Amino acid sequence: MPIVVENLTHTYMPGTPNAHVAVDNVSLTINEGEFFGIIGHTGSGKSTFIQHLNGLIQPTSGRVLVDGFDMNDKKQRRQGRALVGMVFQYPDYQLFDSTVLDDVMFGPKNIGQSPEEAKASAEAAMRTVGLDPEKFGEKSPFELSGGEKRRAALAGIIAMKPKYLVLDEPMAGLDPSGRREVLKTISDLRTELGCTVIMVSHSMEDVARSAERIAVMNESKLFALGTPDEIFSRTDDLIAMGLDAPQTARLAKALREKGIAVPDNIYTNEQFIEWFGRVRNA
Ligand SMILES: Nc1ncnc2c1ncn2[C@@H]1O[C@H](COP(=O)(O)OP(=O)(O)OP(=O)(O)O)[C@@H](O)[C@H]1O
Ligand SMILES: [Mg+2]
Repeated sequence: MPIVVENLTHTYMPGTPNAHVAVDNVSLTINEGEFFGIIGHTGSGKSTFIQHLNGLIQPTSGRVLVDGFDMNDKKQRRQGRALVGMVFQYPDYQLFDSTVLDDVMFGPKNIGQSPEEAKASAEAAMRTVGLDPEKFGEKSPFELSGGEKRRAALAGIIAMKPKYLVLDEPMAGLDPSGRREVLKTISDLRTELGCTVIMVSHSMEDVARSAERIAVMNESKLFALGTPDEIFSRTDDLIAMGLDAPQTARLAKALREKGIAVPDNIYTNEQFIEWFGRVRNA
């Protein structure tokens, strides 16, 4: 069963002079098992949107169904929420225990695992994200680097084995090799655990590489929804709304303007190299 979002609108501080419509009438469906990317410029409503998927905030109007559970209904929300693991944009908000292991165990304990089970789940999750429990388990979360904090926050969520894994900018603030590692961990998790991944990212490159479908948000609205081919063939629109199209998409566009017929569906380095190899040998 999917996550179905119907006419979702969220207004912050409604009825005040500061009222702000952060999500404006968005409808979409996220299918079981897919890698769903969400992009959009800062302030476009991405974080607000995804916080509805685990019922952290409620719609001003419209509704969200997680496997049929209506997140507007208090009782159903508890059932829906149990299926959704959320890794927040700022991992500091998610780490609050005295040791990393306690932190990662918090979620599993909270959903009713015994201390022994929770410890086993936590250690397994730490290994999955590349944090050795021997080395990091007894550290304070505040001693961790930015990338390690993100991994710890991710471990705390995957230790609960969520069906839907929602990640808000999981690679923000990491260097290129850290980004690649975290992105690879996420893709592996999806294949190993079979979970659905919903990832918000500023990085067009990362989304282009991993997502099967992409939602583009612009000024609180859903601007476009489609496969990477469909989205990145609209490089002009993305640039016009202030988004950085993937570098390769920009290069392809520049070449097209010089009269070189680069196909529309070239937007990652790998695709470009493959295409270039073909035309060179033709
Ligand atoms: N708790 C809040 N109260 C009032 N306004 C808020 C609140 N949270 C967000 N906003 C406003 O709602 C709009 C959307 O914010 P949101 O955090 O959803 O954007 P975003 O797309 O995630 O941005 P970023 O890429 O910077 O993370 C922004 O204008 C923001 O200032
Ligand atoms: Mg955000």
